[in-house]
Amino acid sequence: MAPSSSTSSPSSLVKNEFLARFPGAAPLIVRSPGRVNLIGEHTDYNHGFVLPAAIDKAIYLAAASRPDNEIHLVALDLRKSYNGSLDKLVSSPMHWPDYLLGVVQQLVLEGHPLGGFNIVFAGDIPLGAGMSSSAALECATAFALNQLFDLGLDTLAMVTLAQKAENRFVGVQCGIMDQFASMFGRRDQVIRLDCDSLQYTYFPLQLDGIRIVLLDTHVHHSLASSEYNTRRRQCETGVRLIRENCPEVASLRDVTLDMLDSYVAPVDQLVDRRCRFIVGENARLLAATEDLKRGDLTAFGQKMFETHQGLSREYEVSCPELDFLVDQVRDDPAVLGARMMGGGFGGCTINLVKAEAVDALAGRIAPVYRKEMKRELTAYVARIEDGTSVVPD
Ligand code: GLA
Repeated sequence: MAPSSSTSSPSSLVKNEFLARFPGAAPLIVRSPGRVNLIGEHTDYNHGFVLPAAIDKAIYLAAASRPDNEIHLVALDLRKSYNGSLDKLVSSPMHWPDYLLGVVQQLVLEGHPLGGFNIVFAGDIPLGAGMSSSAALECATAFALNQLFDLGLDTLAMVTLAQKAENRFVGVQCGIMDQFASMFGRRDQVIRLDCDSLQYTYFPLQLDGIRIVLLDTHVHHSLASSEYNTRRRQCETGVRLIRENCPEVASLRDVTLDMLDSYVAPVDQLVDRRCRFIVGENARLLAATEDLKRGDLTAFGQKMFETHQGLSREYEVSCPELDFLVDQVRDDPAVLGARMMGGGFGGCTINLVKAEAVDALAGRIAPVYRKEMKRELTAYVARIEDGTSVVPD
């Protein structure tokens, strides 16, 4: 949903800053949201299923073309700027420009006719909290450049381009979920995406008195991207071991527990544990969407707890802070389900919480979290919103 055009809205903030720095015609304003994922974690790069949704926290980006080949970027929240050129696309020591430059590089490699441009952006997606601010920035950039230079890319083409930017320029071998959710999100609906065929179905999320609460651990482990890439390789090893006997298997999507028993467990127990989680998680997601169709959020929430257990013990991408937060709500009758969300090693937990209990929950956990984990806790209520779009004037 477009924010109001009051002077304090994020879109008018980026617009005004843009005009102050780059006087001239009004820029194009794009809103690109972060995402939550209800269930189906680490399944996307294994050709499985995910169940994400775009949220009400977003990047707002103002963009206009320039008559030369220069690229001028301003990250308002960081109070930083970058000046470069289309003719020399190299990663920046500041890191944040890479999310935009990676998109530019992919467009150039695909032969799209680009010119120089100016961008000013800001946002309210908490950084490093696992709500995919980076995917939102990539999607905002792809969307804006597509529009500015009339490239004629459809939404899926922009999604895959934004993912490639992250894989090839930023260097994280992420799957497609975050960019897909940011672009394809729809208000009050979750997306069940088949990451093999890229077919997707929207499911209305009838939350009736339930809120999606994100509890931010404020942990940003530097391990996240290296361990992420390691998990990816371990899953590929599992598939390779199975393919020696079952050549028809293309990914963990096609793998059964029997195959793991026969061909992976005897050879590599760690790889077996990783693969077992993925096979179970895909099955759990399919059962969980049945819960959603029946409106049974209690059964759905139970599966979120199971997912957390698997991510923590089998896939080993949790951390003490995430485990602590899930343990804190496990026996709370106001919490239907909870688990760590996203890549792991920090970020936030996603919780389904009875609306009337949200404030009390955060109030109860913050002091114990501070005492035990020596960190502050932030709670966010996420609303499900539309995906990337132009903000009208
Ligand atoms: C990160 C990645 C996604 C996905 C999740 C784990 O958010 O960017 O592609 O793999 O982790 O489900």
